Amino acid sequence: MNIIVTGGAGFIGSNLLCYLYEKYPDAHFLNIDKLGYASDLSYLNSIRNSNRYTFKKMDIVDREAVRDIIRTYKPDGVFHLAAESHVDNSIKGPEPFIQSNVVGTFNLIEECRQFWKQDDNSWKPHRFLHVSTDEVYGELGDEGAFSEESPYAPNSPYSASKASSDFIVRSYFHTYGMDVVTTNCSNNFGPHQHDEKLIPTVIRTALKGEDIPVYGKGENVRDWLYVRDHCRALEVVYKEGKAGETYVIGGDNEWKNIELVRQICTILNQEAPQQSIGDYQNLITFVTDRPGHDFRYAIDASKIKRKLGWSPEDAFSERLTETIDWYIERYQ
Ligand SMILES: NC(=O)c1ccc[n+]([C@@H]2O[C@H](COP(=O)([O-])OP(=O)(O)OC[C@H]3O[C@@H](n4cnc5c(N)ncnc54)[C@H](O)[C@@H]3O)[C@@H](O)[C@H]2O)c1
Repeated sequence: MNIIVTGGAGFIGSNLLCYLYEKYPDAHFLNIDKLGYASDLSYLNSIRNSNRYTFKKMDIVDREAVRDIIRTYKPDGVFHLAAESHVDNSIKGPEPFIQSNVVGTFNLIEECRQFWKQDDNSWKPHRFLHVSTDEVYGELGDEGAFSEESPYAPNSPYSASKASSDFIVRSYFHTYGMDVVTTNCSNNFGPHQHDEKLIPTVIRTALKGEDIPVYGKGENVRDWLYVRDHCRALEVVYKEGKAGETYVIGGDNEWKNIELVRQICTILNQEAPQQSIGDYQNLITFVTDRPGHDFRYAIDASKIKRKLGWSPEDAFSERLTETIDWYIERYQ
């Protein structure tokens, strides 16, 4: 079985590759990544020399390169994660988001369609899993949760580009009958995340004794899921999800940003105490809010739980401490 993972040198992709590689000893994995600023191939050191793993540095915006690799590698399935992923960057400069997330997704799925569709109009066995975000649904007030039925209402150029890619993928099922599944997941945490994201930023600035920046009053609410739980969900959706359907994925684990930052500081006080700093919470500094900052995201993951038997299994506080330890080692 030949499996392509796009974006495999990024946060979730590298965790996913390591997870799937261990679990499927008969599969071969091709990692396609352009090696942008958020990538780090050292995350894949444990598999890099294996004959069951190949890395190809490539930009999925390059249509001909995508065509070449699909025709040479002959994938049986694709986990599509490659994307520009940081909301703040999409506000500063939206164009790379449109290129990678919209044009890149189109290039990939269209070249897969051309390869998987046979001359007699039947399909080779295949599956295309598109990995998306809960941010496509916009923001919630104090109550409620996103489900597969929630209307799309993206508010940032990032979420708008992901919503566009979701629609392209959806159309390939309805128009061509291609075997696609889409997942929309909440915020992930764990090892391998780029410095710019919330949890690594808190740890990095705290350890240096710098101000820990928190947007607005820190009242925004996010649902947090450990990255390995997300990988398990992607595995089960890829294997057992129904073609043409979407699955929302979440951790039943809502935190106000300020409460999460305080919790991280409390753990840092134990794991990496510094006399000159004292309580890391004293470094928390409120900064001007992000424009169009969505107030709250929450997920009703009952469909994937009921239909595919998935649920988050990792204990949050232990996984958060492990994650913090991983970043302490990285930053110190
Ligand atoms: N991080 C989260 O909390 C979260 C939650 C839900 C969904 N997602 C989705 O999961 C996917 C992975 O997110 P992540 O947090 O690992 O992001 P990331 O930024 O850490 O990694 C993305 C990877 O994709 C690669 N990439 C980007 N554009 C590319 C292109 N044009 N061609 C080839 N490679 C390209 C980058 O080089 C990078 O290695 C994204 O599609 C994102 O929208 C992320």
